[in-house]
Amino acid sequence: MTLLDGKKTSEAIQQEIAAEVAELKAGGARAPHLAAILVGNDGGSVTYVNNKVLACERVGFASSLFHYEDTITEAELLNKIEALNQDDAIDGFIVQLPLPKHIDPEKVLEAIDPQKDVDGFHPMNVGRMVAGLPAYLPATPAGILQLLERYKIETSGKHCVVIGRSNIVGSPMSILMAKSAYPGNCTVTICHSRTVDLPSYTRQADIIIAAIGKPEFVTADMVKEGVVVIDVGTTRVPDASRKSGFRLKGDVNFDEVAPKSSFITPVPGGVGPLTIAMLLKNTLKAAKKEVYA
Ligand code: GUN
Repeated sequence: MTLLDGKKTSEAIQQEIAAEVAELKAGGARAPHLAAILVGNDGGSVTYVNNKVLACERVGFASSLFHYEDTITEAELLNKIEALNQDDAIDGFIVQLPLPKHIDPEKVLEAIDPQKDVDGFHPMNVGRMVAGLPAYLPATPAGILQLLERYKIETSGKHCVVIGRSNIVGSPMSILMAKSAYPGNCTVTICHSRTVDLPSYTRQADIIIAAIGKPEFVTADMVKEGVVVIDVGTTRVPDASRKSGFRLKGDVNFDEVAPKSSFITPVPGGVGPLTIAMLLKNTLKAAKKEVYA
């Protein structure tokens, strides 16, 4: 069993980005600039956004964080998005999800200029990804592709079972894994809450990508020997022995499944760090105007 070290891989990618940023700056360009909009005080979202801002500093980017109370109106949020669309000093920005119930996330995502949509959530980028045109790929799926590639995991002709159909992970992941490319060329099955006899699919899987947010959902009896396991879950479960009062649990029962796996991601330290690295990579592409050249 090989552990897929997301932390190490993320650090390697961030070093590559930092070297490119240093080169850009040496050539007289300003630092790439990522902005993040955060609404409310959900613990997970605050941590993620703070980590994204810290990562910007590490690679030499500029960053701006706009943190609003969850009483902000949809109109006020849309105004802020339009201001960021127009601000030439900002290369890309994200609106951290989820948003409070009174704000329509689709309206918000569609308001973002696709050229600055470094999360890759705008329908324009989703459509371009599906069509195989240059696009910002959503960071978590792109990070999983990086892990597969950097660990040289064979994907061609393999059966990849994606558990979960969210717009952020499951749905784009299934499309990317089926593409005529490496990593890709898989036969893909998407399983979700309405799937009948889900274990009958996961038992046939050469690669499992679990993204449903149910702690330890995938158990040893659900996988075959030699499976590659990518665990996207990061559910906070109470843990009185931790200073924070919680710990992160993946969608896979790691202790049970790891001995049957050829490759597996840990939680934490697997997919999570890659998401941040790929967001930075998209921001660098935005600064270099690479995607919509
Ligand atoms: N919420 C969970 N994952 C993400 C992400 O990748 N980007 C944003 N903006 N919100 C998220």
